[in-house]
Amino acid sequence: MKLAIAIDGPAGAGKSTIAKLIAERYSLMYINTGAMYRAITFKSMQNSIKPEDKEDLCTLMDSLEMHFDDDKLILNGRDITDEIYMPSISNKVSLYASIAEVRKQLVYLQRKMSEKYDVIMDGRDIGTVVLKDSNLKIFLTASAETRAKRRYNELLEKGIDVKYEEILSDIEKRDYIDTHREITPLIKAEDAIEIDSSNMSIEEVVDKISKYIDSIIR
Ligand code: DC
Repeated sequence: MKLAIAIDGPAGAGKSTIAKLIAERYSLMYINTGAMYRAITFKSMQNSIKPEDKEDLCTLMDSLEMHFDDDKLILNGRDITDEIYMPSISNKVSLYASIAEVRKQLVYLQRKMSEKYDVIMDGRDIGTVVLKDSNLKIFLTASAETRAKRRYNELLEKGIDVKYEEILSDIEKRDYIDTHREITPLIKAEDAIEIDSSNMSIEEVVDKISKYIDSIIR
Protein backbone atom coordinates (compact mmCIF):
# COMPACT_ATOMS: atom_id res chain seq x y z
CA MET A 1 0.00 0.00 0.00
CA LYS A 2 1.18 3.51 -0.78
CA LEU A 3 2.10 5.82 2.06
CA ALA A 4 -0.33 8.72 2.31
CA ILE A 5 -0.07 11.38 5.00
CA ALA A 6 -2.80 13.99 5.38
CA ILE A 7 -2.25 17.41 6.97
CA ASP A 8 -5.27 19.65 7.40
CA GLY A 9 -5.71 22.92 9.22
CA PRO A 10 -6.55 26.59 8.84
CA ALA A 11 -4.67 29.13 6.69
CA GLY A 12 -1.18 29.91 7.94
CA ALA A 13 -0.90 27.09 10.47
CA GLY A 14 2.43 26.10 8.90
CA LYS A 15 1.14 23.11 6.93
CA SER A 16 3.16 23.68 3.78
CA THR A 17 6.45 24.42 5.57
CA ILE A 18 6.06 21.31 7.72
CA ALA A 19 4.84 19.11 4.85
CA LYS A 20 7.79 20.13 2.65
CA LEU A 21 10.29 19.17 5.37
CA ILE A 22 8.57 15.85 6.05
CA ALA A 23 8.47 15.14 2.29
CA GLU A 24 12.25 15.64 2.12
CA ARG A 25 12.91 13.53 5.20
CA TYR A 26 10.86 10.56 3.96
CA SER A 27 11.20 11.00 0.15
CA LEU A 28 7.50 11.65 -0.29
CA MET A 29 5.83 13.70 -2.98
CA TYR A 30 4.45 16.91 -1.50
CA ILE A 31 1.04 17.89 -2.82
CA ASN A 32 -0.03 21.39 -1.83
CA THR A 33 -3.76 21.27 -2.56
CA GLY A 34 -4.28 24.92 -1.55
CA ALA A 35 -2.01 25.85 -4.47
CA MET A 36 -4.35 23.94 -6.79
CA TYR A 37 -7.38 25.94 -5.59
CA ARG A 38 -5.30 29.09 -5.97
CA ALA A 39 -4.37 28.12 -9.55
CA ILE A 40 -8.05 27.78 -10.51
CA THR A 41 -8.73 31.15 -8.85
CA PHE A 42 -5.82 32.77 -10.66
CA LYS A 43 -6.90 31.51 -14.09
CA SER A 44 -10.56 32.32 -13.47
CA MET A 45 -9.74 35.88 -12.47
CA GLN A 46 -7.45 36.27 -15.48
CA ASN A 47 -10.38 35.22 -17.68
CA SER A 48 -12.96 37.29 -15.74
CA ILE A 49 -14.85 34.15 -14.71
CA LYS A 50 -16.76 34.62 -11.45
CA PRO A 51 -17.27 31.75 -8.96
CA GLU A 52 -20.96 31.60 -9.88
CA ASP A 53 -20.23 31.17 -13.64
CA LYS A 54 -20.16 27.39 -13.24
CA GLU A 55 -20.27 26.46 -16.92
CA ASP A 56 -17.39 28.76 -17.81
CA LEU A 57 -15.48 27.47 -14.79
CA CYS A 58 -15.87 23.87 -15.96
CA THR A 59 -14.78 24.74 -19.51
CA LEU A 60 -11.78 26.55 -18.09
CA MET A 61 -10.83 23.63 -15.84
CA ASP A 62 -10.98 21.23 -18.80
CA SER A 63 -8.33 23.34 -20.51
CA LEU A 64 -5.91 23.22 -17.58
CA GLU A 65 -3.13 20.73 -16.92
CA MET A 66 -1.49 21.09 -13.54
CA HIS A 67 1.29 19.23 -11.81
CA PHE A 68 3.94 19.80 -9.19
CA ASP A 69 7.64 20.06 -9.88
CA ASP A 70 9.06 19.85 -6.34
CA ASP A 71 7.06 22.57 -4.58
CA LYS A 72 6.40 24.55 -7.76
CA LEU A 73 2.96 24.48 -9.31
CA ILE A 74 3.13 24.18 -13.09
CA LEU A 75 -0.02 25.18 -14.94
CA ASN A 76 -0.13 24.50 -18.67
CA GLY A 77 3.66 24.37 -18.69
CA ARG A 78 4.23 27.61 -16.74
CA ASP A 79 5.45 28.01 -13.14
CA ILE A 80 2.78 30.20 -11.50
CA THR A 81 3.84 29.64 -7.87
CA ASP A 82 4.70 33.27 -7.13
CA GLU A 83 1.56 34.69 -8.72
CA ILE A 84 -0.88 32.50 -6.81
CA TYR A 85 0.35 33.73 -3.42
CA MET A 86 -0.40 37.40 -4.15
CA PRO A 87 -2.97 38.93 -1.73
CA SER A 88 -5.41 39.48 -4.66
CA ILE A 89 -5.67 35.68 -5.04
CA SER A 90 -5.72 34.98 -1.27
CA ASN A 91 -8.70 37.33 -0.96
CA LYS A 92 -10.78 35.40 -3.46
CA VAL A 93 -9.65 31.78 -3.27
CA SER A 94 -12.14 30.68 -0.59
CA LEU A 95 -15.01 31.70 -2.87
CA TYR A 96 -13.79 29.52 -5.76
CA ALA A 97 -12.93 26.70 -3.33
CA SER A 98 -16.59 26.66 -2.20
CA ILE A 99 -17.81 25.62 -5.65
CA ALA A 100 -18.76 21.92 -5.88
CA GLU A 101 -17.56 21.55 -9.48
CA VAL A 102 -14.13 22.94 -8.59
CA ARG A 103 -13.78 20.64 -5.59
CA LYS A 104 -14.89 17.57 -7.54
CA GLN A 105 -12.29 18.13 -10.24
CA LEU A 106 -9.44 18.84 -7.82
CA VAL A 107 -10.27 15.97 -5.45
CA TYR A 108 -10.19 13.64 -8.48
CA LEU A 109 -6.74 14.94 -9.49
CA GLN A 110 -5.44 14.70 -5.91
CA ARG A 111 -6.57 11.08 -5.54
CA LYS A 112 -4.91 10.20 -8.86
CA MET A 113 -1.65 11.63 -7.55
CA SER A 114 -1.91 9.61 -4.34
CA GLU A 115 -2.48 6.40 -6.33
CA LYS A 116 0.74 6.98 -8.23
CA TYR A 117 3.10 8.23 -5.52
CA ASP A 118 3.82 8.04 -1.79
CA VAL A 119 2.47 11.43 -0.75
CA ILE A 120 2.13 13.99 1.96
CA MET A 121 -0.81 16.21 1.10
CA ASP A 122 -1.95 19.33 2.88
CA GLY A 123 -5.25 21.20 2.69
CA ARG A 124 -8.64 21.42 4.36
CA ASP A 125 -10.43 18.19 3.41
CA ILE A 126 -7.55 15.75 3.03
CA GLY A 127 -8.22 13.61 6.11
CA THR A 128 -12.00 13.82 5.77
CA VAL A 129 -12.42 13.41 1.99
CA VAL A 130 -9.40 13.11 -0.32
CA LEU A 131 -7.35 10.59 1.70
CA LYS A 132 -10.03 9.22 4.00
CA ASP A 133 -8.05 5.97 4.40
CA SER A 134 -4.75 7.73 4.95
CA ASN A 135 -2.13 6.06 7.17
CA LEU A 136 -1.69 9.20 9.26
CA LYS A 137 -3.84 12.30 9.65
CA ILE A 138 -2.61 15.48 11.30
CA PHE A 139 -4.77 18.49 12.16
CA LEU A 140 -2.38 21.42 12.53
CA THR A 141 -3.63 24.58 14.21
CA ALA A 142 -2.32 27.84 15.70
CA SER A 143 -4.02 30.99 16.96
CA ALA A 144 -5.24 33.45 14.27
CA GLU A 145 -2.73 36.06 15.51
CA THR A 146 0.22 33.64 15.28
CA ARG A 147 -0.86 32.59 11.80
CA ALA A 148 -1.27 36.20 10.63
CA LYS A 149 2.16 37.12 11.97
CA ARG A 150 3.74 34.20 10.09
CA ARG A 151 2.02 35.09 6.78
CA TYR A 152 2.94 38.75 7.25
CA ASN A 153 6.63 37.91 7.73
CA GLU A 154 6.59 35.53 4.73
CA LEU A 155 5.17 38.24 2.44
CA LEU A 156 7.60 40.87 3.78
CA GLU A 157 10.49 38.51 3.05
CA LYS A 158 9.25 38.23 -0.52
CA GLY A 159 9.27 42.04 -0.73
CA ILE A 160 5.46 42.29 -0.83
CA ASP A 161 4.23 45.35 1.03
CA VAL A 162 1.26 44.47 3.26
CA LYS A 163 -0.35 45.53 6.54
CA TYR A 164 -0.51 43.06 9.45
CA GLU A 165 -4.12 44.06 10.24
CA GLU A 166 -5.15 43.28 6.67
CA ILE A 167 -3.53 39.84 6.80
CA LEU A 168 -5.22 39.09 10.14
CA SER A 169 -8.61 40.14 8.84
CA ASP A 170 -8.08 38.09 5.63
CA ILE A 171 -7.16 35.02 7.74
CA GLU A 172 -10.23 35.46 9.96
CA LYS A 173 -12.46 35.90 6.92
CA ARG A 174 -11.01 32.80 5.25
CA ASP A 175 -11.33 30.76 8.48
CA TYR A 176 -14.98 31.67 8.55
CA ILE A 177 -15.67 30.76 4.91
CA ASP A 178 -13.55 27.56 5.06
CA THR A 179 -15.28 26.28 8.22
CA HIS A 180 -18.82 27.35 7.30
CA ARG A 181 -19.05 26.40 3.64
CA GLU A 182 -21.72 23.88 2.71
CA ILE A 183 -19.47 21.41 0.92
CA THR A 184 -16.77 19.62 2.92
CA PRO A 185 -15.94 22.43 5.35
CA LEU A 186 -12.68 22.41 7.28
CA ILE A 187 -13.15 20.03 10.21
CA LYS A 188 -10.83 17.73 12.07
CA ALA A 189 -11.22 14.10 10.99
CA GLU A 190 -12.25 11.90 13.91
CA ASP A 191 -9.05 9.90 13.67
CA ALA A 192 -6.72 12.90 13.16
CA ILE A 193 -4.04 13.89 15.64
CA GLU A 194 -4.34 17.56 16.61
CA ILE A 195 -1.16 19.60 17.01
CA ASP A 196 -1.33 23.25 18.13
CA SER A 197 1.83 24.86 16.77
CA SER A 198 1.33 28.31 18.37
CA ASN A 199 4.20 27.78 20.80
CA MET A 200 6.22 25.23 18.88
CA SER A 201 9.16 25.70 16.51
CA ILE A 202 9.05 24.22 13.01
CA GLU A 203 11.61 21.58 14.06
CA GLU A 204 9.51 20.57 17.06
CA VAL A 205 6.44 20.03 14.89
CA VAL A 206 8.44 18.11 12.25
CA ASP A 207 9.98 15.90 14.96
CA LYS A 208 6.60 15.22 16.54
CA ILE A 209 5.03 14.18 13.22
CA SER A 210 8.14 12.14 12.32
CA LYS A 211 7.65 10.05 15.46
CA TYR A 212 4.15 9.13 14.28
CA ILE A 213 5.44 8.31 10.78
CA ASP A 214 8.24 6.15 12.20
CA SER A 215 5.70 4.21 14.23
CA ILE A 216 3.64 3.35 11.10
CA ILE A 217 6.46 2.53 8.70
CA ARG A 218 8.43 0.31 11.07
O1 DC B 1 -3.68 26.43 2.02
P1 DC B 1 -3.99 27.73 1.32
O2 DC B 1 -4.19 28.88 2.27
O3 DC B 1 -3.04 28.06 0.23
O4 DC B 1 -5.44 27.44 0.63
C1 DC B 1 -6.07 28.40 -0.16
C2 DC B 1 -7.58 28.25 -0.04
O5 DC B 1 -8.01 27.06 -0.68
C3 DC B 1 -8.14 28.22 1.37
O6 DC B 1 -8.79 29.42 1.70
C4 DC B 1 -9.15 27.10 1.38
C5 DC B 1 -9.00 26.40 0.08
N1 DC B 1 -8.66 24.98 0.19
C6 DC B 1 -9.69 24.08 0.29
O7 DC B 1 -10.84 24.47 0.35
N2 DC B 1 -9.42 22.74 0.31
C7 DC B 1 -8.16 22.31 0.26
N3 DC B 1 -7.91 20.98 0.28
C8 DC B 1 -7.08 23.22 0.20
C9 DC B 1 -7.37 24.57 0.18
